Amino acid sequence: MTADSKPASTFRYNEKPTYTTSNGCPVRHPEEFQRIGQNGPILLQDFHLIDLLAHFDRERIPERVVHAKGAGAYGEFEVTHDISDITTIDMLKTVGKKTPAVARFSTVGGEKGSADSARDPRGFSVKFYTDEGNWDWVYNNTPVFFLREPGKFPLFIHTQKRNPQTNLKDATMFWDYLSTHQEAIHQVMTLFSDRGTPYSYRHMNGYSGHTFKWIKKDGTFNYVQIHLKTDQGIKTLNNEEAGKLAGDNPDWHTQDLFEAIQKGDYPSWTVYVQVLSPEQAEKFRWNIFDLTKVWPQKEVPLRPFGKLTLNKNPENYFAEIEQAAFSPSHLVPGVEPSADPVLQSRLFSYPDTHRYRLGVNYQQIPVNAPLRAFNPFQRDGFMAVNGNYGANPNYPSSYRQLTYKPVRATNDHEKWVGAAVSYLSEVTAEDYVQAKGLWDVLGRQPGQQDNFVTNVSTHLAAAKEDTRKRTYEMFSNVDKELGKRIAEATEKLAPAPKSAAAGSANSRL
Ligand code: NDP
Ligand code: HEM
Repeated sequence: MTADSKPASTFRYNEKPTYTTSNGCPVRHPEEFQRIGQNGPILLQDFHLIDLLAHFDRERIPERVVHAKGAGAYGEFEVTHDISDITTIDMLKTVGKKTPAVARFSTVGGEKGSADSARDPRGFSVKFYTDEGNWDWVYNNTPVFFLREPGKFPLFIHTQKRNPQTNLKDATMFWDYLSTHQEAIHQVMTLFSDRGTPYSYRHMNGYSGHTFKWIKKDGTFNYVQIHLKTDQGIKTLNNEEAGKLAGDNPDWHTQDLFEAIQKGDYPSWTVYVQVLSPEQAEKFRWNIFDLTKVWPQKEVPLRPFGKLTLNKNPENYFAEIEQAAFSPSHLVPGVEPSADPVLQSRLFSYPDTHRYRLGVNYQQIPVNAPLRAFNPFQRDGFMAVNGNYGANPNYPSSYRQLTYKPVRATNDHEKWVGAAVSYLSEVTAEDYVQAKGLWDVLGRQPGQQDNFVTNVSTHLAAAKEDTRKRTYEMFSNVDKELGKRIAEATEKLAPAPKSAAAGSANSRL
């Protein structure tokens, strides 16, 4: 193979490749075009120009419907503690075992160009390239979420995005949803604490939020939740700093991550597991399949088992980070999803969105490709670029033997019995207990309760009056004093009521 015919990505920067058309034909100058004479029309036969324009026209792929703005890097996971008594996952089996990984952090609601410092949960995704397949952790920086019914997700997300008429972010929509779906309160408390505006991706934790099942050697299982705690320490922005940064440097989190890794200051996270046996889970105060609740750390201690370190920036953002496709359903032997209905529906939603966003062969894109995969029954489709399994039969053929490896499945599944029902949970007093717990945690940190009140009131003040009032009641359900403080601070900032005739763009809400 000559230097000029190497694949593009293998050229080193000190080499001087010959510029060509996309089909490899040398071109004299990239800015030249073919025309009639000095002033005449251009020629359709000018493949270089037409191809350049046509390719440019197609540069954008759909952005992620949520978590569109993000940054990422490569790294590795190292097992630091023996946890062979609770897991059979290959990646975790021996102390010192290292597994390569790619991580992507993100905000949730904003578009691809939105500000990194926006008040929002942060996505914390990691893909581990294990010897038994890719294992994705598609986590957030908050241990809970806004809902426990999966169908609410698109509805909730709509309210955090733009008003369909004004195309503006809309405080009334935002708080109208939350104050009428008060199971969200625990996550609202987290979001409007200063942890809702992290200083950077390096300074935040990650949480599985959901419960998963880890299979033991004897085939029985435990329920687990995973925590990644930042070794850089939690560092947050206050409301004012976050707002200023959104204008001064909207890409700060992206820049911070890239520059830290570039100068060898590799961020890392210590990884812990919380474990409950099925018997313990049965008697536990909290429903372990309810995503709005944590497992209190005093009751279910964190057991350390590993460290995630990010140590290599991508060479090409689009190829390696934008095209990264994470899914909670990308699992490996030894881990299984729990019955959490939100998790169960996420198992469907992510590969579905990848097929839409990246195409049916998204697992062939190098950043997504497992170390080894052999699945010749999935064939063809757009962009089949890995050889498409060559001459291998596309069905289980008598003429081509495959090895079917027994995986460590649990022989101790939960047994679900019941009639098929349409289900919608009720909000009860229990839903405010952990929210109040967090309010008390903030009370033990100087200034954090004051910041919380500021963070809510500056946002809520833009909502309509009846929505504001309903929201005060919601916070009073957590703590009477909190409701009062939010009401006072918000009403000071809220605009004077308009006359009935004046109305507003979203007056029909
Ligand atoms: P503790 O009563 O021991 O509270 C301490 C925990 O609160 C810390 O470990 C820390 O989580 C978390 N925390 C501290 N400051 C903040 C903050 N400003 N914003 C959000 N979280 C903060 O722990 P419990 O387990 O009883 O939880 C108390 C409350 O803490 C919960 O109601 C929950 O809202 C929140 N929390 C609980 C987590 C859990 O999995 N149990 C995880 C994170 C938050 P961390 O160590 O992870 O930083
Ligand atoms: C991204 C759906 C809940 C974490 C996404 C994407 C979709 C989605 C469609 C875009 C994926 C892509 O285009 O690549 C849902 C649905 C949910 C849900 C339907 C509930 C029913 C959650 C929860 C968490 C979470 C509870 C965290 C515990 C993430 C993360 C990303 C993401 C981290 C970004 C992945 C990346 O970096 O590419 N979600 N989500 N989501 N979601 Fe969810």
